[in-house]
Amino acid sequence: MAQQDVKIREPLLIELSTPGRRGVRFPEPDVPQADLPEDLVRSDLPLPEVSEVDVVRHYTRLSQYNHGVDINFYPLGSCTMKYNPKVNEDMARLPGFLNIHPLQPVETVQGALAVMYTLQEALKEITGMAGVSLQPAAGAHGELTGVLIIREYHRSRGDTKRNKILVPDSAHGTNPASSAMSGMRVVEIPSDKRGNIDLEKLKAECDDTLAGLMITNPNTLGLFEEHIEEVVQAVHEAGGLVYGDGANLNALLGIARFGDMGFDVVHLNLHKTFSTPHGGGGPGSGPVAVAEHLVDFLPGPVVTIVDQDEEGTPIYGFTWPEKSIGRVKAFYGHFGVMVRALTYILMLGADGLRQVAEDAVLNANYLRVLLQDTYHIPYNRLCKHEFVAEGRWPDAPGIRALDISKRLMDFGFHPPTNYFPLIVHEALMIEPTETESKATLDAFIDAMKQIAREARENPELLRKAPHNTPFGRVDEVRAARQLILTWFDWA
Ligand SMILES: Cc1ncc(COP(=O)(O)O)c(C=O)c1O
Repeated sequence: MAQQDVKIREPLLIELSTPGRRGVRFPEPDVPQADLPEDLVRSDLPLPEVSEVDVVRHYTRLSQYNHGVDINFYPLGSCTMKYNPKVNEDMARLPGFLNIHPLQPVETVQGALAVMYTLQEALKEITGMAGVSLQPAAGAHGELTGVLIIREYHRSRGDTKRNKILVPDSAHGTNPASSAMSGMRVVEIPSDKRGNIDLEKLKAECDDTLAGLMITNPNTLGLFEEHIEEVVQAVHEAGGLVYGDGANLNALLGIARFGDMGFDVVHLNLHKTFSTPHGGGGPGSGPVAVAEHLVDFLPGPVVTIVDQDEEGTPIYGFTWPEKSIGRVKAFYGHFGVMVRALTYILMLGADGLRQVAEDAVLNANYLRVLLQDTYHIPYNRLCKHEFVAEGRWPDAPGIRALDISKRLMDFGFHPPTNYFPLIVHEALMIEPTETESKATLDAFIDAMKQIAREARENPELLRKAPHNTPFGRVDEVRAARQLILTWFDWA
């Protein structure tokens, strides 16, 4: 954060050090004392001298400067910031899960392997696919894994000139990036007026260099691809494979399955749909699910049932798919996220998962319809889990999506995603999720309407927002370029 530009409204109490103050007292040594090697000792480090209560208050105060989904509404489009039930945390912290090590012999971690296997099976059922790898560490990593699988599939058939991946302009930003990372050539396909893939443009690219199509469905406009069967058919007829970015599964859970739509590969974001805390860099989990003809290419190892004991209880182990693309992550993926996701799935059951999607879609459409007279919504049709509005009005010159977002913080709400997708000007991408009550949604609508009035009547109020937060508006470009991560000037 570029501190020069930050208006601090509360004393930050950063310099807490008082000479001689201590938070810990070391016991008397029970081994002979020895001097540390001189080159290891640095006397120039101004370590803070603080008591335990100083430290606790400092960090508790800092945590209160943060907005989190446990504090208030977090309509951050494309992130599915739903409330994460605390029972997931309890399960992930069970000592038997918490204290195991990936190098332990498999006989000693059968419970953990059972969790992974059960989760794999559940995800197969949820996606309608034939095989799953839990290894990828996050969504974008799942995408890369999936494209590598597609590449390997073509190579294994000697079809080496297929090096083109089509990515619609309504795709998530990671889609073109991960496709390019795999060494593929990325070709963008424009959307039509209804926010679907432009079918004619798609078909024009369906030739014998086509490796596949990567499609986010529902897309980043929050819209379900209305011609999905035709899209899949066109790609398949040209010999390509269809990759589904399933990170927006919150809209489809228990209602529509990628496998039934003819997809070949799909990844899911456990940290979004299956309610594990995320943001700030992880950890996440982006399992990849594949159709029958790609099961042999999955990254290895995969948890399988290798035997059973005399009572018929399965014995789990790791096996390598025959034509595996190899490992994509050390060990087996982010196990703690898997425990949380499985807890969520088992707590809700099939009916509960379906209800998640129904309520997520209902909430998004409730907001969309009640805001559509105040905010222009360019692709305005029945949406899925989110929708994208424009944060600008012809009669409020100079007001931008950013100003609206900053002002929302004064109402205690986290801003929506800004400036994405790129095909909407001054985009405000709003995803309420299913965990919000009507009262919260109504309060958000009131705030958005008030802000729209203020944009005309008192635009300065928006331009200088936020006003009620511990920090004022920062110069975000400078903050990103001149990152200062400590309060102390080491220079
Ligand atoms: C649709 C979509 N695809 C891919 C991703 C990338 O996932 P991750 O951030 O876990 O890499 C996201 C992230 O939110 C997403 O919304």
